[in-house]
Amino acid sequence: MTTMKSDEDKVVKLRVEDLTLIFGKRKKEALEMLEKGASKAEILQKTKCTVGISKANFEVYEGEVFVVMGLSGSGKSTLIRCLNRLNEPTAGKVFFKDEDITRKGNRELLNIRRFEMSMVFQTFGLLPHKTILENAAFGLELRGEPKEEREKKALAALETVGLKGYEEHYPSAMSGGMQQRVGLARALANDTEVLLMDEAFSALDPLIKSDMQDKLLQIQEKVQKTIVFITHDLDEAIKLGDRIMIMKDGIIEQIGSAEEILTHPASEYVEAFVEKVDRKTIITAESLMFPKPSLLRVKKDGPMRAIRKMQTEGVKFLPVVEDERRTFLGYVWLNDVLELAEKKEMSLEKALKTEVPSVYSDYTVEEMLPLISGNNYPLAVVDKQGGRLLGLVTQTSLIIEATRYGDEEVKQLIKKANKTNRL
Ligand SMILES: Nc1ncnc2c1ncn2[C@@H]1O[C@H](COP(=O)(O)OP(=O)(O)O)[C@@H](O)[C@H]1O
Ligand SMILES: [Mg+2]
Repeated sequence: MTTMKSDEDKVVKLRVEDLTLIFGKRKKEALEMLEKGASKAEILQKTKCTVGISKANFEVYEGEVFVVMGLSGSGKSTLIRCLNRLNEPTAGKVFFKDEDITRKGNRELLNIRRFEMSMVFQTFGLLPHKTILENAAFGLELRGEPKEEREKKALAALETVGLKGYEEHYPSAMSGGMQQRVGLARALANDTEVLLMDEAFSALDPLIKSDMQDKLLQIQEKVQKTIVFITHDLDEAIKLGDRIMIMKDGIIEQIGSAEEILTHPASEYVEAFVEKVDRKTIITAESLMFPKPSLLRVKKDGPMRAIRKMQTEGVKFLPVVEDERRTFLGYVWLNDVLELAEKKEMSLEKALKTEVPSVYSDYTVEEMLPLISGNNYPLAVVDKQGGRLLGLVTQTSLIIEATRYGDEEVKQLIKKANKTNRL
């Protein structure tokens, strides 16, 4: 058996192909209308059928948190329930590790749900007459694991979610947040490769919700599961998702990282959706930088060459790197280099300004803004390992990005930077 690989050479855990799900009796008619491009509303009116999902195509990679986001009714639950076939797709295929889930028999499906994909629901789904330990062990009990074995695993899972000591309690004695942690522990105890989480944190109040998100990220760091996480909360999507898929009326609007979605929204809908996001904590140096800037090599390029290069490029300064490894060293300015040339100096070293800020490509706008005030240089984006120059974020591009934010704090920084910004 071959392992499914994505374009980016990632291992594909789940692949959904042309998946459509229609609720209602006149499915065939609805499907034909859908093929001809009719809208969800038109199909509902004509056939009384609801389009839950319309021709969805996507892949979920091994070890990622794949967030499905959309407003209520956009088809998120319908979709996630097709992944383990709690919902029967009307058309299309769902592959799990190369195998087409839509062709499995009941027994195989049951095994997939018990051994391969655990589900965590919004309503915690705890059994009131069972203790917390028994609840956490319940998936394993269904699998027929011996008591001792399953309790050992459940205990470890409860410890992971921070509920050690509550084993003998009953669900009714616990808060919503704690109950949801039991639900999570149960899924973790199953130790399945895939976790399906449908609005798992949506019912929790904000502080507890944020706490659970942190907990999940901590746990994920350790267990590296493949998680499909559904939410209608954009902040939650951004916080948790390695990639986010945005849905509207059963249709996939866009799939990408939070940054990709913010910087290149695929539709007006997505644009409107992400309008209020706190961009300064998401947009990074990588998307703002000019990659592969012109540069000078400190040994090989002397003052004459530097002057020529600045003149042809029409710039007053250039970044300088170490000759072989391209490690960023600083900048030289035209005025200083002209002086060196007059003095017949052969090397750029004396003109080199080294006290300049540099950043890594994952620095956010929020982290970069304070670096621009009080100096005139672009921010050099350097590689984390060797300090190699990857690109430049000019103050202008940073300011253009930042002027989109209404923040008072940001305005002050821009004002300060503008005073000194001569680029
Ligand atoms: N069992 C059902 N029968 C008929 N329509 C349904 C059923 N379940 C969901 N729907 C409809 O399918 C669409 C998608 O619903 P759902 O997947 O629950 O959305 P979400 O989880 O994003 O809120 C909605 O229009 C909803 O009314
Ligand atoms: Mg739902």
